[in-house]
Amino acid sequence: MTTIKLNNGHEMPIIGLGVWRMDKKDIKDLIFSSIKLGYRHFDCAADYQNEAEVGEALEEAFQSGLVKRDDLFITTKLWNSDHGHVLEACKDSLKKLRLDYLDLYLVHFPVATKHTGVGTTGSALDADGVLEIDTTISLETTWHAMEELVSMGLVRSIGISNYDIFLTRDCLAYSKIKPAVNQIETHPYFQRESLVKFCQKHSIVVTAHTPLGGAAANHEWFGTVSCLDDPVLKGLAEKYKRTVAQVVLRWGIQRNTIVIPKTSKIERLKENVQVFDFELEKEDIELIKSIDRKYRTNQPAVFWGVDLYA
Ligand SMILES: NC(=O)c1ccc[n+]([C@@H]2O[C@H](COP(=O)([O-])OP(=O)(O)OC[C@H]3O[C@@H](n4cnc5c(N)ncnc54)[C@H](OP(=O)(O)O)[C@@H]3O)[C@@H](O)[C@H]2O)c1
Repeated sequence: MTTIKLNNGHEMPIIGLGVWRMDKKDIKDLIFSSIKLGYRHFDCAADYQNEAEVGEALEEAFQSGLVKRDDLFITTKLWNSDHGHVLEACKDSLKKLRLDYLDLYLVHFPVATKHTGVGTTGSALDADGVLEIDTTISLETTWHAMEELVSMGLVRSIGISNYDIFLTRDCLAYSKIKPAVNQIETHPYFQRESLVKFCQKHSIVVTAHTPLGGAAANHEWFGTVSCLDDPVLKGLAEKYKRTVAQVVLRWGIQRNTIVIPKTSKIERLKENVQVFDFELEKEDIELIKSIDRKYRTNQPAVFWGVDLYA
């Protein structure tokens, strides 16, 4: 698996398996199958409520000799309601994942919300159905607590997620340890070239979450349109004799972003890593630029009654 070097020297595999919305009962099978197919990177989060199942699968994979801990890159994320409890939240994730260190710990969203108990990943709403934002904890305070985790050896790299240019700029200004990664939604319908370039210019690796545009999952949850149905991308898939998903993931890799597609289908696990034996030509990269819709497909505002991106 090709890797990208982070600003602290650690290597991060360019493709990872996202585990959001993965059924708990399928996780062991998917993790074992993906490791056999060459996946070495798993993107988790406390909020996905399946760290325990991922941990069980990982432990079995290590014990059976399928793979060694050092060969894997495990990311998980601090939930919004735990910004005031970073150490406890990290330890809770480590316990559930059955690991003694994380490769990468991310601040999941740039917002602290009312604490609901470590690891509960609540999103408390007020009487009007609006997210209870905690105005007493700054992102700087959260970040310094993240930095402590590195000093303690619990985490190798720390990063941010869903931060725009301004928030990323601020993080660069107040950090003693620079963020290694910014994980953001980006795919052909939401290319965010300025943010991607800004991060890369400042040695922050961009991980593309929702790299396939969320496909059927985000249509169901957020009523969005999928780039996998785009006629231009379908044309390129025909040209390269690949699937649309492979063209989209290859495009992500060629712009030096890490991609973390989720699938619960074994045959798609294979399809989604078979992207290293072809290259999109420059003119096709240009063509894909032209289909950007500046279209966010993941809209947590649906649940939180407040649009954090507005
Ligand atoms: N930091 C954040 O706030 C944040 C937000 C969202 C996501 N993420 C991370 O990013 C990961 C990926 O995001 P996502 O799951 O929302 O979206 P995604 O990976 O863009 O798309 C997943 C959807 O695409 C389908 N799919 C997968 N491979 C396919 C293929 N080859 N052809 C056609 N359809 C395919 C999946 O269906 P099947 O499962 O049925 O194959 C699923 O419906 C998550 O698992 C999570 O780790 C992070």
